[in-house]
Amino acid sequence: MPKSLCSPAIFVSLLLLPVLSILLYQLDSFDPADYPDKEFTRRDPMFVPYRNTHMLTGSERLGEGRLLAPEDVAFDPKTGVLYTGCEDGWVHRVSLNGSVVERWVNTAGRPLGIVHGLHGEVIVADAVKGLLNISNDGSIEVLTDEAEGLKFKLTDAVDISQDGTLYFTDASYKYGMHEHILDILEGRPYGRFLSYNPSTKETRVLARDLYFANGVAVSPDQSFVIFCETVLRRCQRYYIEGRRKGSTDVFIDNLPGVPDNIRYDGEGLYWIALSTGISYPVDLLQRYPFIRKVFAIMMRYIGRLNMEKNGGVIAVDSDGKPTALYQDRDISSMTSAIKIGDHLYCGSVSSSYMLRLNVDRYPATPVAV
Ligand SMILES: *[C@@H]1O[C@H](CO)[C@@H](O)[C@H](O)[C@H]1NC(C)=O
Ligand SMILES: *[C@@H]1O[C@H](CO)[C@@H](O)[C@H](O)[C@H]1NC(C)=O
Repeated sequence: MPKSLCSPAIFVSLLLLPVLSILLYQLDSFDPADYPDKEFTRRDPMFVPYRNTHMLTGSERLGEGRLLAPEDVAFDPKTGVLYTGCEDGWVHRVSLNGSVVERWVNTAGRPLGIVHGLHGEVIVADAVKGLLNISNDGSIEVLTDEAEGLKFKLTDAVDISQDGTLYFTDASYKYGMHEHILDILEGRPYGRFLSYNPSTKETRVLARDLYFANGVAVSPDQSFVIFCETVLRRCQRYYIEGRRKGSTDVFIDNLPGVPDNIRYDGEGLYWIALSTGISYPVDLLQRYPFIRKVFAIMMRYIGRLNMEKNGGVIAVDSDGKPTALYQDRDISSMTSAIKIGDHLYCGSVSSSYMLRLNVDRYPATPVAV
C-alpha cells in the first residue's frame, strides 16, 4: 500500500465519505417518484424496419457558431426560409443551403417551438415568455402565458390547425428551462397540453398531468393532434374532430429514445426527434427513483453528466407505425427534424449549428430480421 494511503487524515476521510454521502442523501428534500408505467422499460425494443445508424455521415452543419442551441425549425415555403429559435433569445432566419444566417427578432426569452401562422406571422412557444405572436414587422405579442390560474413555466412546442387554433404544450409548471432535467428526474407529471383560440383569445387545457409534455403536430386531415411525453417515451393523440372528439389515446409508445419535437412532412410521415437513445444508465434512471435522487444530488455538487447518445430521429406513418430510424452514437440532444424535399433539417440544444442530411443519398436501409 502506498505510504500516503496510510496517513491518518486519508483514513478518516475514507471513513467519513460514506457517512457524509448518506447524510446528504437523507437531508436532501428532492423526492423523485416512480414513473407510472414501471413495466415500460422492460419491454423488447421497438422494431424499426429501416435504419441508418451513422446519421452524422454525410450531414452538413448550417450556421455553425452562429446558431446557439437551435431547438425547433420551421419552414416558410413561400419565401424558402427556415426559422429557428436559439438560447440567446434570437429567432434566426436561415436559407436552405445555410449561406444566409440572419438574426431576425430577439424574444428576450428562450424561443423553443416555432410554426408559421395563417397570416404571415410566426408563432413561438417561448420557455420563459409563453406563447408569442411575432408579426411580419418583428413586433412581439404575448398571446397567453397561463391557464386555469397556473402560469406556464416551460412553454415548449406549438402547431397550428387549418382553422387557426394553436395547439401547444407547457412541459412543466414547476421547473423552468434551466431546471428541466429536475422535472425529468423527479418523475411527477407537471406538463399540460393546451389550445389557444385567436378569435376568442381563450386558452384551454386539453390534457393535464403529463410527464414532460413536448412536441406537437396536427394531423393532415385535421382530425387529431399528437403530443409527445418525453419521460414516458411515447406520443399521445388527442382527437379534435369526429366520434372520438375530446378523447385521447396512445399514438406510439416504447420509442427507441426520448421524444422531443414532432413534425409532419406533408408526404405521409411524422418525424419525431429523439434527444437520446436508450442505454443501460438511462434505463436504470427510469426504473429507480433513488438513482435519480443520487443523480440530482451529484448534479448539484459536481455538475451534469452527459449520458445522452444515440440520439436521432424516427419516421412514423399516419397510423403510428415506425418506418425508419436515423441515429448516431455521437448525437445527443437532437430536438427537432423537419423534412424538406430530400433533406432533413435538425435542431439540437447541444450544438451551435443546424444539421442537414440528404436522406436520398444517405438513406436508412432495410434491417435484416
Ligand atoms: C445558396 O442559395 C442561395 C439562394 O438562396 C444562392 O444564391 C447561393 O448561391 C447558394 N449558395 C451555395 C453555396 O450553393
Ligand atoms: C398575430 O399578429 C398579427 C398582427 O397583429 C395578426 O394579424 C395575427 O392575426 C396575429 N395572429 C394570432 C395567431 O394571433
